Amino acid sequence: MNEAVKVLTHEHETIKRAINQTNVLFADILNGNKDIKAMHERIDFFRKYADGYHHHKEEEVLFPEMIKRNEMLEYGVIHEMLQNHEDFREMLAEIETLVNEGNATLALSKFKAYSEALLEHIAVEDEEVFQIAETLLSEDELLTVLYRFEDCDRELGVDAKKDWEDTIE
Ligand SMILES: [Fe+2]
Ligand SMILES: [Fe+2]
Repeated sequence: MNEAVKVLTHEHETIKRAINQTNVLFADILNGNKDIKAMHERIDFFRKYADGYHHHKEEEVLFPEMIKRNEMLEYGVIHEMLQNHEDFREMLAEIETLVNEGNATLALSKFKAYSEALLEHIAVEDEEVFQIAETLLSEDELLTVLYRFEDCDRELGVDAKKDWEDTIE
């Protein structure tokens, strides 16, 4: 697997682990073992890590590079992926509102919908989108993508990214 793609799939793994852990947290909240306020850290993870570090790389770096080489993608699978990212932002805001209101049951059902959609999205990228990227882009182009990914992480903070990953490991 190419190094640039590896960065994204590694982030996918972290996001998938965070989803599993958040489902466990929700069970604890519903059992009364944890306060719903504990969800704020999770919402922060999905906003700052999944959206901030990860979706940002796809939207600002990888997808535009792919579209440059195949314009049709802009109306196909890439369009679908970008639409998903938008939907995820809206769903997360809804979950946050429900958490603020202390509505654990509804927050959980919204989180279920969010996490299932996110897992499906990740599967499409892993199985389809990244393979298209590796076919469309040359080794040199993928190396440039990797350097730009590293720039993205530096801008947002490499240590902060590591901290998020450590909380999920
Ligand atoms: Fe994505
Ligand atoms: Fe992704």
